[in-house]
Amino acid sequence: MSLERLQKALDFQAFYEQKVAQAADYIKERLSGLKPAFGVVLGSGLGELAGSIEGAVTIPYSDIPNFPMTTVPGHEGTMFIGTLEGVPVVGMKGRKHFYEVADGPLNTGMLLTVFPVHVLASLGVENYFVTNASGGLNPNYKVGDVMIITSHINHMPNPLLGRHHDFKRVGSQDQVWRFQPMNGAYDKELTSLLRDAGFSHDSHVHEGTYMAVTGPTYEAEAEAIAFRDGFKADAVGMSTTPEVIIARNRGMKAVGFSCITNVVTEDGINATSHEEVKAVLESSEVKNRLTSIVRKFFRSYQEENS
Ligand code: HPA
Repeated sequence: MSLERLQKALDFQAFYEQKVAQAADYIKERLSGLKPAFGVVLGSGLGELAGSIEGAVTIPYSDIPNFPMTTVPGHEGTMFIGTLEGVPVVGMKGRKHFYEVADGPLNTGMLLTVFPVHVLASLGVENYFVTNASGGLNPNYKVGDVMIITSHINHMPNPLLGRHHDFKRVGSQDQVWRFQPMNGAYDKELTSLLRDAGFSHDSHVHEGTYMAVTGPTYEAEAEAIAFRDGFKADAVGMSTTPEVIIARNRGMKAVGFSCITNVVTEDGINATSHEEVKAVLESSEVKNRLTSIVRKFFRSYQEENS
């Protein structure tokens, strides 16, 4: 590793709070008075929803100081700031996955993975809406279904490991906690709104536990069986839990769902590929389902909060 890369990592690690503040300041200047209530991760399959964000100011991630760029095909890197069904939001098309940066020195991989969440919190955004693609472990799940996340199993490195950061909780002068409770991590009221939003897609909408692994491998038979029958997880994926841990640590409320892009057989066979995952998310039936649920969620949120 070059000394220059090491120096850059050391700088990012040591001055993490300032790096987040620089990114937040850059975005703040472009909010034109809007006070976003939600950060929305437009994961795979939800990219088109960005087009529904009205009056959107778009910012390429590459313009935001210190912001991580995405390197996975199908994951664009653009921020959309505007209103969704009347709710002011920051839409993020594209996320950094830990597997892309896990070899970064000095914990910078995880610090980069959760960087956007810190930026949202520093902007005062109170809610984090997360979406992702995952493999279905629960035998009732079919490809293209939606699983509202009610709890999770974090099988990735914990983003709060290491130096205790000097960040404040949203809407407060309190410093973030060293020991973060994760009970009720997925907000009950927001989850209930999401459940109602999914009601008309009834048979395709489930609720369950999301298990996060680093990937980038898909599961071997024994792993899939252990996650399903041992851990009792309903779906498995490679993102989300570090983000939700940081969202909670910063005092934000979290809510979200997984799109089931592939299913594991009873024998634990997960014979999927990135191409299959992308193809499911590109099908118009699935895209329409995801878009309809998200829109309905924000419409109800707006009705309840206006
Ligand atoms: N396993 C892990 N991550 C995933 C999967 C899976 O089967 N499908 C989509 N992301």
